[in-house]
Amino acid sequence: MREPDAAFADPRQAVLYDTFNGDDRSDLDAYLAIAGEVGARRVIDIGCGTGVLAIRLAGAGCSVLGVDPAEASLAVARAKPRAGLVTWLHGDATALLGRNEAADLAVMTGNVAQVFVADEDWAATLSAVRAALRPGGWFAFETRRPEVRDWESWDVAPTPVTLPDGRTAVVTRTVTDVSPPLVTFEGSTTIGDEVLRSTSTLRFRERQEVERDLLAHGFTVPDIRDAPDRPGKEHVFLTQRQ
Ligand SMILES: C[S@@+](CC[C@H](N)C(=O)[O-])C[C@H]1O[C@@H](n2cnc3c(N)ncnc32)[C@H](O)[C@@H]1O
Repeated sequence: MREPDAAFADPRQAVLYDTFNGDDRSDLDAYLAIAGEVGARRVIDIGCGTGVLAIRLAGAGCSVLGVDPAEASLAVARAKPRAGLVTWLHGDATALLGRNEAADLAVMTGNVAQVFVADEDWAATLSAVRAALRPGGWFAFETRRPEVRDWESWDVAPTPVTLPDGRTAVVTRTVTDVSPPLVTFEGSTTIGDEVLRSTSTLRFRERQEVERDLLAHGFTVPDIRDAPDRPGKEHVFLTQRQ
């Protein structure tokens, strides 16, 4: 499995994730709603990052396991006030194998599904998620629609951002390669004399391709939704272990 990007794995960058992604995270509301909709009690958040959704789900009464291969992001999650409500696991979804979780719901938010560039990483993740669900358990995740070409608006000229401690960071982002289905971009964050860099490559899968892969890994696809906060840009797959 590919190592997580520096943006998540470098402690100096992981600690900035919540500042750069906003406090309200309205994108996560849809997943809280799905947990309620399917009556989930045991939930696994795969690629939980800094734990925003995992902690919200636990606060709503779910038993939650947050899984992420970036230890630095998990450290941010573990330091949060209600982090003790969640069980944290360092690793990718294959770390779930053999744990007999029998979860009601697994989620992957923040377009985690796009980090799986290699077919074998995507396949290993789908197999591991399936094994971690009870029969009939749900798997909900989002992925950006390739035809929208969202990356065309991803470049960010040097922009100052005020950090919680009052310092100013200057952030930039540049898309460096578009080779469909892969898009690569580089981000930099300058704080004083320190320049923090991260390079990411994301895979944009067509809706039919995702459906085919899900079916091949033992999921049915009862529903494919729009992301309420990003209408027309993403598909939210609501799938179920056969
Ligand atoms: C954009 S962040 C999303 C974090 C969180 N889900 C959210 O919504 O804020 C992508 C996350 O995917 C994680 N990740 C990278 N490779 C992964 C893998 N192979 N399996 C699971 N998660 C992975 C990263 O460490 C990072 O925390």
